Amino acid sequence: MAKTDGSDNQLYGNLTSVMYSQADLAKRTHELGEEISRDYKGRPLVLINILKGGIVFLADLMRTITIPHAFDVVGASSYRGGTSTSGKVTITKDADLDLRGKDLLLVEDILDTGVTLNVVCELLLIQQPASLEICCLLNKKRERKLKVPLKYVGFEIPDEFVVGYGLDYKEQYRNLPCIGILKPEVYSA
Ligand code: IMP
Ligand code: MG
Repeated sequence: MAKTDGSDNQLYGNLTSVMYSQADLAKRTHELGEEISRDYKGRPLVLINILKGGIVFLADLMRTITIPHAFDVVGASSYRGGTSTSGKVTITKDADLDLRGKDLLLVEDILDTGVTLNVVCELLLIQQPASLEICCLLNKKRERKLKVPLKYVGFEIPDEFVVGYGLDYKEQYRNLPCIGILKPEVYSA
């Protein structure tokens, strides 16, 4: 039987180090869920998830939120299988719900250049929501031309390429239960 902490996952061997363990992620997600539940009490909250990296975080986060809310997903892709952004964002799926007058909270896995979040925010604002805020699990410390106001941040991280907990390299590593730094030889090979 597979171990419940995921420590037998074969992908661990391709990590330089584990940045956040499954327990670290669960603890921080819980704290964010409590904060969101307090801040949005009595408001028509809709969580918006950006496919695909954010789905693992969303699935855990929504179960720590104790107030009623809906969720929807939008598809956006800026990475074309590499470790740096192409700078061009493709919207692959719009939201399905009627978002007018709703309090939207965008749930994203990682903020890198901010290009993706900017494009998705523009798309959502067309629907005239009551508010739009961002909850990002990881905020990469780097120079940014675009300003992205984050209301909730899980962790501030250095400018490293990380995988796991939904984050991928060429569509792999999303199933790692932790977040770790990918060995450079994996993507420079
Ligand atoms: P941005 O548009 O440059 O902010 O990039 C955001 C998207 O790029 C995220 O939603 C991720 O899918 C991807 N991304 C950025 N940094 C990393 C990383 O370190 N590992 C895996 N994916 C990343
Ligand atoms: Mg992604």
